[in-house]
Amino acid sequence: MKPKIFVTRKLPKPAMDRLAEVFEVMVNLEDRVLTKSEIIEGVKWCDVLLCLLTDTIDAEIIDSNPDLKGISNYAVGYNNIDVDAATKRGLPVCNTPGVLTETTADMTWALMFAIARRIVETDKYNRAGKFRGWGPMFFLGNDISGKTLGIVGVGRIGTAVAKRAIGFNMKILYSDNHKHKELEFNLNAEKVGIETLLRESDFVTIHVPLMPSTTHLISEKELKLMKKIAYLINTSRGPVVDEHALLLALQEKWIAGAALDVYEFEPEMVEGLSGCENAVLTPHTASATVETRTKMGLIAAENAIAIIENRRPPEIINPDVLEVK
Ligand code: GLV
Ligand code: GLV
Repeated sequence: MKPKIFVTRKLPKPAMDRLAEVFEVMVNLEDRVLTKSEIIEGVKWCDVLLCLLTDTIDAEIIDSNPDLKGISNYAVGYNNIDVDAATKRGLPVCNTPGVLTETTADMTWALMFAIARRIVETDKYNRAGKFRGWGPMFFLGNDISGKTLGIVGVGRIGTAVAKRAIGFNMKILYSDNHKHKELEFNLNAEKVGIETLLRESDFVTIHVPLMPSTTHLISEKELKLMKKIAYLINTSRGPVVDEHALLLALQEKWIAGAALDVYEFEPEMVEGLSGCENAVLTPHTASATVETRTKMGLIAAENAIAIIENRRPPEIINPDVLEVK
């Protein structure tokens, strides 16, 4: 008899095929987020849970099946899982880092261009049939080349964002808990405190994981430190930014604009945000390419397979549980 895996939403086909080689697969075929009781029903049935960043996996869910062997999250971020509760039970929790780094960095740049060069706004204008010819003062944006880029958090994604700045002759500031010699040596990046970064950058882009210490890292005080001509980009997690404060910042023009892929109360946006012309708002699609979502699926599958075969998963968040076994 094959071991059982519960997949909370359909993944790209190569991943589903790989899972089916090893597991009996139960998958939610409806294209929606499951309710907590639906997840519990699946967890009770399975040996391994393969979940998404939109599933909140708390201690109650984890404990609903004493025979659960582990959790494979289809995302690099794992703030949706109570990892401590899983660790207490000795369950490995796995994620999909690395494969989405370049794709997310690309999207960060796409958002920078979209907001600074008013791509979405002008596209809408054009489609509405309003274009009557070139104008000297028509839809002026701001340059990216030669400006100062402030990167909050230089893990894999923040570093990949920094590397792309070379071609645009940018000055790079970063804030992080650690000094990154390679970034400083290769890109002339300068480590500064977050307040200096906010005061001096023309573009501030956030690449920290969501944790208690990064929740509302950017709030009213921080937004007020930013230049009036600066833009905020967020492709990390919504709650890192206080969205009500950001709404005020956009409405009252404390900053020039924001480009967001993630939201504090996702999938909701705070009321008024969608009315801001000086915002570009994408629906958490920073890693959404065919190539990357397939690679994420395959890693999530290999993680799940390693869990059930009692091997070290390729990507594990809480490796301590392996030593315990
Ligand atoms: C996407 O947001 C991810 O964490 O993979
Ligand atoms: C996530 O992959 C990061 O380290 O930035």
